[in-house]
Amino acid sequence: MYRAPRGTADILPEEQRYWHYLEAGARAVAQRYGYGRLETPVFENTGLFVRGVGQGTDIVEKEMYSFDDRGGDSLTLRPEGTAPACRAYLEHGMRNLPQPVRLYYFSPAFRYERPQAGRFRQHHQFGVEALGDGDPSVDAEVVEMAWQLMNGLGLTDLTLLVNSIGDPQCRPAYLEHLKDYYKPLAERLCQDCKERLERSPLRLLDCKQPTCIIMAQEAPQTVDHLCPECRDHWKKLLGYLQKLDVPFRVEPRLVRGLDYYTRTVFEIHPAEEGGQSALCAGGRYDGLIQELDGPPTPGIGFAAGMERMVLNLKRQEVPVPDEYFVKAIVAYLGDDAKETAISLASQLRSKGIATILAPAGRSLKAQMRYANSLGIPYALILGDDEIKNGSVVLRDMTQGEQREIQLQSIAEELDNLITS
Ligand code: HAM
Repeated sequence: MYRAPRGTADILPEEQRYWHYLEAGARAVAQRYGYGRLETPVFENTGLFVRGVGQGTDIVEKEMYSFDDRGGDSLTLRPEGTAPACRAYLEHGMRNLPQPVRLYYFSPAFRYERPQAGRFRQHHQFGVEALGDGDPSVDAEVVEMAWQLMNGLGLTDLTLLVNSIGDPQCRPAYLEHLKDYYKPLAERLCQDCKERLERSPLRLLDCKQPTCIIMAQEAPQTVDHLCPECRDHWKKLLGYLQKLDVPFRVEPRLVRGLDYYTRTVFEIHPAEEGGQSALCAGGRYDGLIQELDGPPTPGIGFAAGMERMVLNLKRQEVPVPDEYFVKAIVAYLGDDAKETAISLASQLRSKGIATILAPAGRSLKAQMRYANSLGIPYALILGDDEIKNGSVVLRDMTQGEQREIQLQSIAEELDNLITS
């Protein structure tokens, strides 16, 4: 028997309320901050990610789902949404619009990672990107937005980590300091870090191996080696966040696994987990659009993992409404009643009341058992007597009480009960 591929998951009907809740919450935040929805294709030219995300990153080196199509082009299932958003910005001449252009997206992302709790090979992101404005007030807007999103969803006990990793002006000198610090310690580094030392030394700071964590604690910090422009940007951002009452913690070892970041980087973590737990992550990427052959254009954004948010909504037992819940079942006895039952169910649905018809060929008792097992709050029962009287029996399934009501007033009566 086939199963869903390793690292992927079906999202079943009973899970959907979490997804609807997240989508509604995220969309409301995006709209409040003036972001417009963008949808890009599920696959892009492979080169977009190789150049955008970076040749030496885990994503490009080990995790992309790339394939040649029948025309011989190399395509890749989107591993993230920032490079595609920048591609769309350039392709559609969005730099001629008033800047910044504010975009948001919901999209599946594909990474060949080792599956574990909260880590999938297909996951879903809600992301935002503000393109074309390098002012630190835009950083503050995006960080605040991520924080508001989590708060608005009812998630608590979260930590917002921020850092600045400088830009091409100040980072090279910092990286030299970092390598000088690590070289005498190289023997004690884990195998991955030994390999990263020359290629992407920043990543040594966020290695999760215990000995590497200890070494990272004493390592030189990016924020102590910023050029005057980056330092000014960083100070302003921290000032704005304080003014906005966004509670953050400066984390000098916060670096990101994608190459395009400059200056601001941030993540939001739940209290409970360790390393791989970021609910949401992002930062500034002022060189990315240029890397994709566009003009120098600043950008900043974040993406939140939908599966991880669902996991935390459940863990924290956040009450999530189920607006798609069936409210009524029409039960019946006999063929005449069946016809009326079919029309009644249809009539209730057209009034916006989620209704199903009881399955055919069952006793009334069995129909009631069926309604109970689905947790349906109201049953409408039609038999010969009711048909004769032009009425229906309305049964409150939780209280076990029932009364007879005229057919023409049942929709209104039920609507009152449901909305009260
Ligand atoms: P990222 O940190 O790679 O950043 O992913 C963003 C979020 O997606 C993570 O914080 C996590 O919640 C979720 N996520 C990532 N990988 C997985 C996975 N394998 N399974 C489940 N959830 C996952 C980016 O993708 C950047 N494009 C974010 C960004 C937008 N930066 C600027 N703008």
